[in-house]
Formats: sequence, C-alpha cells, structure tokens
Amino acid sequence: MTKAKIAGVGFHVPENIITNDDLTQYMDTNDAWIQERTGIKERRWVTRGKDTTATLAAKASRIAIERAGIEAKEIDFIVFATLSADYYFPGAGVILQRELGIADTEIGAIDIKNQCTGFIYALSVASQYIETGMYKNVLVVGAEVQSMALDLSTRGRGIAVIFGDGAGAVVLQPTEEKGKGILTTKLHADGRYAEKLIMPVPGSHGGYHNDALETPSDWNFSDEKWGNSFVNEHMLKNAMVFPYMDGQHVFKMAVTKFPEVTKEALDAVHLKVSDIDLFIPHQANLRISQFVAKRLGIPLEKVVNNIQKYGNTTAASIPIALAEAWEAGRVKEGDLVCMTAFGSGFTWGSALVRW
Ligand code: ACO
Repeated sequence: MTKAKIAGVGFHVPENIITNDDLTQYMDTNDAWIQERTGIKERRWVTRGKDTTATLAAKASRIAIERAGIEAKEIDFIVFATLSADYYFPGAGVILQRELGIADTEIGAIDIKNQCTGFIYALSVASQYIETGMYKNVLVVGAEVQSMALDLSTRGRGIAVIFGDGAGAVVLQPTEEKGKGILTTKLHADGRYAEKLIMPVPGSHGGYHNDALETPSDWNFSDEKWGNSFVNEHMLKNAMVFPYMDGQHVFKMAVTKFPEVTKEALDAVHLKVSDIDLFIPHQANLRISQFVAKRLGIPLEKVVNNIQKYGNTTAASIPIALAEAWEAGRVKEGDLVCMTAFGSGFTWGSALVRW
C-alpha cells in the first residue's frame, strides 16, 4: 500500500535574536523567571516590513524542495499550517505559492488553523492525498510570525516572553517501501476549552458571551456603538487583539494529552514507546516536554528540545525541530520518529514516521 514519506526537510528563522534580557526594555521581567518557567533563553523576531509568515515559509520551503530533489514547479499541492497568516484572508498558502514563483501552475493551497497542533493536522491531511494517489509532491509547512501580535507591556508578560517567529517545511512523496513513511496520524480536539488559549480578535463573536466560558469580563460587550468591525477601540483597550492563556490549565491538559495520543498512535501500529528513536514534541515549554518524556519513559537523549533558542513557534515548532535534528544527523534511515503536539482549541495529535 502506498504511504507518504518525508522526502525533504527545511527550516528558516529570522536573524534577529531577542534575548530574555532584551525583553526587559519592554516589560517587568527577568531572565531567571523566563528560564525557570519555560526553558527559553532567546527567540527570533522578524524585522517588520522585511518578512512575513509566508516569506519565512518560502525560505524554509525552498530548502525542503531542493532536498527532496525536485523543483518548486513540481509541487502539486500546498498545505500550510499557521495561526498568523499574512492577512485575515486570503490564507497564507496562496501567498506562499506566489512567493515560490509557482502561482502560474494554479496548484491548490489550503490553510490549516490548528495552532500548536497545526503541523500534525497538516501532515495528516497531506498524507491522505499521497495515499490515495491524488498528488505526488505535497509541500507541508508550519510557519508563524507571532512577534507582531504580542502585548509587550508588563500586562502581557505571561505570554509575550514565550512566543517566537519561524518556519519549517517538508515535502511528502509516495513510497511503496514496506513499513516506511508516515505510519499513522492521530488527531483530537475538545472545543469546550476554546477560550483557555485564544486570541479573540479579529473575529465574528461581536462580544458574544456565555457565563460558562469564564473569559475576562471585559470581553463581554455587544454594544452597537462600536460599529461593524472585527476590531474596535473596546477590543484594543482590553487586550483582545493579543493572545490570552490560562497557563496552568494548559499545562495540566498538555501533560495528560501528549502521552495519551503518543501511546494511541503507537498502539495503532503495534509499536511501543521503546521503539521510538526520536521524539519531537511541540516546543510549548521545556518543562512540559521534560514532564511528558518522563511520563512516557523516553530517555532525554531521544527527545528534541530547541525551545531554548527559538521560543514557542506554534505550528512551526515541530517542522523546525525536525529539520534541525535532521541537519544534525539525528534522523537516520529506518528510525522511528514520533511527533506529538498539544495546543489551542484544545487540539492535540501525534504522527509516527518510519524514516
Ligand atoms: N516575568 C516575570 N514575572 C512574570 C512573568 C514574566 N514574564 N509572567 C508572569 N509573571 C508573574 C505573574 O505576574 C505572577 O506574579 P504574582 O504572583 O505577583 O501575581 C507570577 O509570575 C506567577 O504567574 P503565573 O501566571 O501564575 O505563572 P505560572 O507559574 O503559572 O507560570 C507559565 C506561567 C510558565 C505560562 C505556566 O503556567 C506554564 O508553564 N503553563 C504551561 C502553558 C505553556 O507553557 N504554554 C505555552 C504556550 S501554549 C502551547 O504551546 C500549548
């Protein structure tokens, strides 16, 4: 049976390094707090007006395409995971197609908006096209520019210190080699927790309120004086244009769902935790990754952690970590690579790949 294999990987992060100390010019924070709670030492931010989510994605994609041994015009479908597309609409996939100079091919492009789990969802979607024989070269990307939507005042410090910018890409191709390629993907969501990790604006909720949601009371408004716009002064004043997170709730759910879905994926293909050669968790927080690895019983030398350098890059974190590990020679022929993520939605998922 045809499976999808990862034929090429690539990543790109902006040159602009922002250390924890650099953040103290914007907010009351310190290196010790950030490192102790998150493991992050520095992150990358784009230079405004120079790069966008799609241009970062194009740089990562060109590397992946070259390593897959094809030319950009041979790509026949794009799957783009991001929560920070260049525009509210159209999606980032079409901008990436244009950036790669292949708009005249008129290939399809879809955006996946599943935040930190976005790349796992994207891999799952893309692999179905390959398995059915519909496409031969599918470009799968996770990219984010989050630095332009962070509350850099002390009010936003709980979140602003965590997130960074970057892009990772893979090219999927068919393989008939038995036991190789993407063996399985498992995807989950639980919308009851949508407001626990959220950027509510721009959106169509218009002040929609439900007591059970426990969202900040400032979010509850529907006064028509604010007019017909996804963004208004009330929203700007009350930080609704920035991400909001119930960090402790996220932590508790993440450390349960990461191991659960990893085991579910392994069970589906009759493999064990000890069969994993390389574990690539979404780089949410170093403490979460360490906790999850310990709970699963995966030795730390098999776990990829690069959040120290790049922060949490949401949908880009797994493909960046995969490409970086591959470049370092940590992914070898025949290895079992397990990628698992948890994030806003809540959504979570796992993908198992035999290299
Ligand atoms: N610098 C200094 N102090 C800070 C900062 C900061 N950047 N941010 C918050 N604080 C302060 C708070 O104001 C608070 O002070 P107070 O006690 O005087 O009120 C104190 O530190 C504790 O704040 P909490 O928000 O309770 O901090 P907590 O211990 O929960 O740590 C953290 C926050 C790191 C986010 C934690 O909840 C966590 O690890 N959550 C997991 C979620 C996560 O990491 N998500 C990543 C993104 S989501 C994803 O990828 C799935």
